[in-house]
Amino acid sequence: MFTRTALRAATRPVNRIPTLTLRANYATPSVKPTHTTPQPISADDAHKMNPRGLEISSAQRIAENGFISAIGNTPLIRLKKLSEETGCEILGKAEFQNPGGSVKDRAAYYVVKDAEERGLLKPGGTVVEGTAGNTGIGLAHVCRSKGYKLVIFMPNTQSQGKIDLLRLLGAEVYPVPAVAYDNPENYNHQATRYAEERENCVWTNQFDNVANRQAHIETTGPEIWAQTQGKIDAFTCASGTAGTIAGVTRYLKDVSGGKVKCYVADPPGSVIYTYVSSGGKMTERKGSSITEGIGQGRITSNLQPDIDLLDGALHVPDASSIEMVYRCLDEEGLYLGASSCLNVAAARDLAVKLGPGNTVVTILCDGAYRYADRLFSKKWLHEKGLWEAVPEGLRRYAVLD
Ligand SMILES: Cc1ncc(COP(=O)(O)O)c(C=O)c1O
Repeated sequence: MFTRTALRAATRPVNRIPTLTLRANYATPSVKPTHTTPQPISADDAHKMNPRGLEISSAQRIAENGFISAIGNTPLIRLKKLSEETGCEILGKAEFQNPGGSVKDRAAYYVVKDAEERGLLKPGGTVVEGTAGNTGIGLAHVCRSKGYKLVIFMPNTQSQGKIDLLRLLGAEVYPVPAVAYDNPENYNHQATRYAEERENCVWTNQFDNVANRQAHIETTGPEIWAQTQGKIDAFTCASGTAGTIAGVTRYLKDVSGGKVKCYVADPPGSVIYTYVSSGGKMTERKGSSITEGIGQGRITSNLQPDIDLLDGALHVPDASSIEMVYRCLDEEGLYLGASSCLNVAAARDLAVKLGPGNTVVTILCDGAYRYADRLFSKKWLHEKGLWEAVPEGLRRYAVLD
């Protein structure tokens, strides 16, 4: 442990150390080095040691187990402007910082690990999933890092970009006719059959495999509780498979003795909002949404065990999600996908509902990179009737035609 005086001495520039002579082909750093003598630092003092306000976290040690050890432990970012506006602390868990780029890395690892532990997946085996989105990307990374083959079935209505991305990450991709769930040719049934017909091959079934929810009970929830040091009043996020909302809700309710309020956020076209707000009596599916990866037509097995723990549901129209895409970028420098921004809009609405002084946490699921050609396209925004949703002063960010 350093005393304050020792700390000051350790961080003071030491003039005796000569300035480094940089070779001509090396870029000169834009920030002048301070030339402090590196000292061993304790976990408590680590953040005080950095002279430019970037914290060195003791949690970020070597990711010994490669890709997998780099999953999770994402920062909890304070959204400054929305916090000021509401008088609450609005915090977003930066899941876009996972090594595969989204919150789904956690679920991808847990469903693979679960298959291994059940003896369904052995070295050299194959993982099969029906997905066009982030779960496929997370699984592709996890499978490569563990030496498994990945096979993806998806409806053939998905963009070539998504197919290409999964293929370049090493997956075998089968785009199949986009037919309803009750048709045996539906992509989920094809994925199931593919796995059933082969040895050492498992369908990870992200929607109804509760190993998905377990990932958030064991990692996301505890991280949020530790990062806020238990000072959290409410949590909200949307539901795709519901692994995140169910797992985090379950953990936060347990650890806080039921005190943390948990609300599911829902886009148009999804049944979760009406189901939860009618106490399970109604499943109305009105409209459709531009958000991807969220919204649901049924109560998945990941949601079922925890749905009664929810304090309520928040309906978030696409206009609010789009407004937040532009506000998060302009006000916070955060380049986020539409589902993250739906969550931020829900966190803002929840903060307003609960009143000043509350701490509200949400999930920043992924970045906007994969969606930029739509979210920042004037034409697309006009086509979707969402141009007016972009605050006038921020329309300059819509640089694509
Ligand atoms: C971008 C994005 N946001 C949110 C979610 C929803 O997470 P969950 O499946 O845990 O409900 C997903 C799921 O695929 C997603 O891809």
